[in-house]
Amino acid sequence: MSGIQFGWTEELATGIDIIDVQHKELIKRIIDVMDCAESRRFSTIAETLMYLSHYVIDHFSLEEKYMIDTDYPGFEEHWDEHSHYVKVISALKREPFITPELIHRIETELAQWLLDHILSTDLKMALYIKQFGK
Ligand SMILES: [Fe+2]
Repeated sequence: MSGIQFGWTEELATGIDIIDVQHKELIKRIIDVMDCAESRRFSTIAETLMYLSHYVIDHFSLEEKYMIDTDYPGFEEHWDEHSHYVKVISALKREPFITPELIHRIETELAQWLLDHILSTDLKMALYIKQFGK
């Protein structure tokens, strides 16, 4: 891994167990993608991105269900961020070669984006769900 420090830290914890478990899995798989990119193992990257593209859809659906069930007022903005990320993963999946530019996109658009999303958007949502959820 070169550019950014990436991994699970306690400040990412939402306090909702199932969401935290899924975030840890996402981070673990993204680390795999970053490691494979660094060592130019293209087939493993493609496989892991395929796995991620399915996993994020399940994970985002879970968060969206929580938001709908609690009438979360920030639902739309949050949903927009999720759909942006799904598009980013599809675009990365279509890249045919590992280039320095692709590695940079993996670090920023895939990895750093997720940390920013968890730290701002997910933590805000989790606070609300813990307060108003059944
Ligand atoms: Fe989210």
